[in-house]
Amino acid sequence: MSVPADTRAQSSTGATAERRKLLILENDRALRRELEQIFSDLDVVCSEASEQTLALIRRVEPDVVLFDLGARDAAVASQSLELLRQILNLAPDTKIIAMTEQDGRDLTVQAVGLGATDFYHKPLNAAVLSIVVRRAFRIRELEEENGRLREQTGNMALEGIIGVSDAMRGLCRSVEKVAPTSATVLILGDSGTGKELLARALHRLSGRSHQPFVAINCAAIPDTLLESELFGYEKGAFTGAAKRTLGKLELASGGTVFLDEIGEMPASLQAKLLRVLQERTVERIGGREPVALDLRILCATNRNLDALIAAGGFREDLYYRISEVTIKVPPLRDRQGDCLLLAQFLLQQMAERFGKPSRGLAPDAIRAVQAHRWPGNVRELENRIKGAVIMADGAVVTASDLGLQDPGEDVEYLNLRMARQRAEVHAVRQALAMAKGNLSRAAELLGVTRPTLYDLLEKHHIKAAQFGKGAATAEERPS
Ligand SMILES: Nc1ncnc2c1ncn2[C@@H]1O[C@H](COP(=O)(O)OP(=O)(O)O)[C@@H](O)[C@H]1O
Ligand SMILES: [Mg+2]
Repeated sequence: MSVPADTRAQSSTGATAERRKLLILENDRALRRELEQIFSDLDVVCSEASEQTLALIRRVEPDVVLFDLGARDAAVASQSLELLRQILNLAPDTKIIAMTEQDGRDLTVQAVGLGATDFYHKPLNAAVLSIVVRRAFRIRELEEENGRLREQTGNMALEGIIGVSDAMRGLCRSVEKVAPTSATVLILGDSGTGKELLARALHRLSGRSHQPFVAINCAAIPDTLLESELFGYEKGAFTGAAKRTLGKLELASGGTVFLDEIGEMPASLQAKLLRVLQERTVERIGGREPVALDLRILCATNRNLDALIAAGGFREDLYYRISEVTIKVPPLRDRQGDCLLLAQFLLQQMAERFGKPSRGLAPDAIRAVQAHRWPGNVRELENRIKGAVIMADGAVVTASDLGLQDPGEDVEYLNLRMARQRAEVHAVRQALAMAKGNLSRAAELLGVTRPTLYDLLEKHHIKAAQFGKGAATAEERPS
């Protein structure tokens, strides 16, 4: 269960805006001065890498360390790697950027393998290095933020359910409220969003928690078997019915039945199920006496039941019976903040399960997880993480371990200029499509002059010709 936020201490190590500490470990004095200049807007401490470094880390508590590993000399390099390992042991949350000469790539790979967040190959380019450092701070901030949210929620919206988004918190509060009642609950949502998980949580929070929870997937059982599976049968009810066999409904008596994929239930069984709900009895196939039942019924589907009812595929009266309360689970991509938290949680869980070292997510993996659309929702995330934990060689899981593409910096640094640019491209394309490529018409729709539209096309590399035959030819263009 979650603990109220106000009884929890706030994380004391928040990397807030006013406390962004960068430690630069650089043995070359001239470079040190140059680096100090580049990062003059941050709280910077510069030093050589030495035996004193760990003491310095303890004192300064940097958020990010920019560490020149000194690749030229093999002995120095291996000392550097050892120091890097010690720093991460001492302060595992610190983000380390491993810096080497252009030819020190093998070394940076080892450094990242040990847990460095990122790397940089000299020569110094202030703009590029700034981006790398800024990104490390951003990762640190995101992790801190996640940590704080985790503390506030006790990591879980409900036991076993990870989520910090408003949507998930709201859902969990609904589950808590409806659990102790006898209401039938219909859980709607795409595959892999956690419908069954919520159903189980609901059962656990109900007065029936010590009674059975029986899940039946209506889509997984052939129509012909579903009836006997649900209702059971008497001896001799049909060929092969050698002895009386209780159905799942009867077996669940006193507890909860979870009818998954209820939208797939054949019409004949829908009628029988309706009777169960109305009369609270069940009749075995071939049986004469109805048997009284004490059941809580929960249903789930990824189908649009309204459309199914309209098309005659689902009984409206049954729908009202099973949906005394309806809970809608949104797709994972719409749950702000849940992806990353779930990824980190699942990573830890899988690492434990497979006896692998607990790995973090590399920066490109964090970006990829946030940018991916997750059509398979949490189940997809679970599978990708499982695969990555089993297959990954390094200490951290990368985007490619997850089978995802790094979306690049765009996602992390989506700023106003870029947002504007995207909106502009979108508007121009839409106008062109509506105007079937006619530039005068498109300009009119956009409320700009033709020359302005030409400028926009040029700027965004949009070809009007793609949008229809009314499009301007190259000759038409003003020079
Ligand atoms: N919020 C969550 N926290 C932790 N695990 C989750 C969460 N949502 C889903 N899962 C896991 O993802 C997988 C798919 O969830 P499931 O409940 O079977 O989805 P659905 O029934 O909607 O298809 C399960 O292994 C489940 O434990
Ligand atoms: Mg399911």
